[in-house]
Parts: sequence; C-alpha cells; structure tokens
Amino acid sequence: MIIKDSHIPIYYQLEMEIKEIIKELTPGDPISSEREFSEKYGISRMTVRQAINNLVAEGVLVRQRGKGTFVATPKVEQELSGLTSFSEDMRSRGLTPKTKILDFKTIPCPRGVASKLRIEEEEMVYEFSRLRIADEIPMALETSYIPTALIKELQEETLHGSIYEYVEKTLQLKISHATQTIESTLSQKNESIPLGIKEGAPALLMERYSYLENGTPFEYVKSIYRGDRYKFVIDMKRSQ
Ligand code: GLP
Repeated sequence: MIIKDSHIPIYYQLEMEIKEIIKELTPGDPISSEREFSEKYGISRMTVRQAINNLVAEGVLVRQRGKGTFVATPKVEQELSGLTSFSEDMRSRGLTPKTKILDFKTIPCPRGVASKLRIEEEEMVYEFSRLRIADEIPMALETSYIPTALIKELQEETLHGSIYEYVEKTLQLKISHATQTIESTLSQKNESIPLGIKEGAPALLMERYSYLENGTPFEYVKSIYRGDRYKFVIDMKRSQ
C-alpha cells in the first residue's frame, strides 16, 4: 500500500512494496511494467522509474534492454566471522564451485608482495589468476601469490579445486588466520570481460593475507568480486 501524504517518499514506499511482491516470485520472473505500477498505485511513471532504478542498483532487479525488468538472483552473502575458502562459501550455499585458470606461472616475488609474505624479492612465488564460478556464474577474479618454498611442485591441475583443501588435506598444513581488507572499486576492462559485467561496473576489491599455524604468511590474494553478486554479513557485539 502506498500512503501519499506520508513523510516517507513515495518512491521508497514503492521500493518496499516491490520487495514484498517479489518475495512471491522466483529469480528471472518479470515484474510489472512502469505503466502498470503507475496505474495500479496512481503515481507518476517518473516515481516508478526512480524506485525501479534504485532496486536495479541494489541488485534486487535486473533490467534487460528491450525485454523488461526481472527479479534478480539474490546476492551471495558471505559471513566475515570465519576464515573460509571460496569453495566452502559456495558449497555452504548449495552452489557448485568451479574454477577457470587464466594464468599460472612461477616468478620472483613482486615488490610490495614480498614484504607482506615476509620473503625476499628474489624468492620465487607461484602467481596464478583464477576465475571463480558458482553454478556457471562468474563471481570473482582472484590473483594469488604463494611462496614456492611452502608448496613444492604445485600443479596447475590442483588449482581447479580448492587450494585450502589441498594445503590442509594433502599437505597437512593448518591455515589458522588471515587479514582481509574490502574496498569498493570499479571493474577494469580486463576484469569485467571474464566476470561478464560491464567495464566500470561496481565491484569489491578484497585483499587477503593468510597465515599458517606457525605464523608463516602463506598466501597473498587480490580478489575482484562482482558487486551485483556479493554482499558481506558480519555479526557485531557492542563492547561493554
Ligand atoms: C577466497 C579468498 C582467497 C582464497 C580462496 C581459497 O576466495 N578470497 O584468498 O585463496 O578463498 O579458495 P579455494 O580453497 O576454494 O581455492
């Protein structure tokens, strides 16, 4: 219901209304047209457009040129309280993880990464870029650096699966903690193509340094996550 003389803006009331309506729909279902909403609620098409634009920007709806507006697939929610791998995150949501390796080489550790991994610049690291996919939808592009001294003879084949699982189950090393930063960014052309988004589309830049139980830095990973597919959840306690 839309209350016209409310102090709550009409476009915002309509956004809430649409969110209620789509609870009964499934991703990919079309929603009513601007004209239909405008007639149903007796409000201007401009107001309807504003509400729909906001919901598209929020990732609740997707617009397809010439076809209409549809219910979007809900974003993947990632909890930030535990240290999990991409494969675990996707499986826990009932999605099937898949990985496409875009690049894999052994190089002297780049400046900037070396100090964080606490190794010398000339020490060798594996550098690999992986497109992380869930249920056939590209989710993130990750570039990782791991010292070769920690994993002898890492095979490209291994990178198709979970690197955390390989380290913990096969190498019997314990990954204990990580430091991660998250920043908003706009996707660059070389990122947007594999991710299947428009160049300049909103994305999340995450950097993670993971450590083994003995405190040795094990990986540095720079990830670009699709802003329209991901959201982070954190439970916070107020200190007494
Ligand atoms: C996440 C993290 C990466 C980590 C990866 C491991 O995506 N951002 O830092 O390397 O998980 O995932 P997996 O074990 O599935 O390869």
